[in-house]
Amino acid sequence: KNETRDILQTKVMGHRGAALLAPENTLASIRAAADAGATWVEIDVYLIAEGGLIIFHDDTLDRCTNGSGVTREARPTDVAELDAGAWFSDEFSGEKVPTLLDALECIQSLNLGLNLEIKHDSADVENIVPAVMAMLRDHWQDNDKLMISSFNLAALEMCYEIDGLRHLAPLYEDIPTDWQEQLESIEAYSLNCDYSRLTEAQARAVKAAGYKLLCYTANDPKKVAAHWEWGMDAVITDDPTQFAALLIN
Ligand code: G3P
Ligand code: MG
Repeated sequence: KNETRDILQTKVMGHRGAALLAPENTLASIRAAADAGATWVEIDVYLIAEGGLIIFHDDTLDRCTNGSGVTREARPTDVAELDAGAWFSDEFSGEKVPTLLDALECIQSLNLGLNLEIKHDSADVENIVPAVMAMLRDHWQDNDKLMISSFNLAALEMCYEIDGLRHLAPLYEDIPTDWQEQLESIEAYSLNCDYSRLTEAQARAVKAAGYKLLCYTANDPKKVAAHWEWGMDAVITDDPTQFAALLIN
């Protein structure tokens, strides 16, 4: 395998910003991750009506905003009116659903690295990937602080083909038997998977093949104690404060 480029200088990455500390996938959540000492954040990008790109996880607006309905059918002007913080706590009422551009600016102003997850269930790959790539091309400065992940391999293949982006990370719940072939096809940077389904043999095989190994979503350090032994490089967590001991250097 190609050599692993070591852009990931951290063991702890905030999930949806820092989803236990502030409303997920908002600018407040990104700031909370930074305040907790995280130097990288994972957020989800979702394609909506009129080609809008927002930072959002769910297929419907109901859980994380005061609106409702199908996320991909929402218009940017309507999403801009929604409250994305009050559901979490009063303290965050008035928090907005960020656009991708809002998030890119915020993350860079905080000097964080970005793991941008392209949501596989948001419309079709042919629409979301070029739109995300164009936004990154125009508004993201340092590709060594950028990783793109997705459960949808086709989305990552398109990133690879159209922009030569190289820090790509297939996401898996259960790691498929042909994972190595999949990672090779896009010269992947890392394999990102569910910590609770990962086996020691799988972890060791991923590391032996020369890839970074990231695991989501662990909020209790005890749950991933063994994973560090197996070679896990970083944990994706809703609460970076739980891993403060790993953030010191
Ligand atoms: O990138 C890791 C994790 O975010 C994948 O799952 O559903 O939280 O986006 P999900
Ligand atoms: Mg995600």
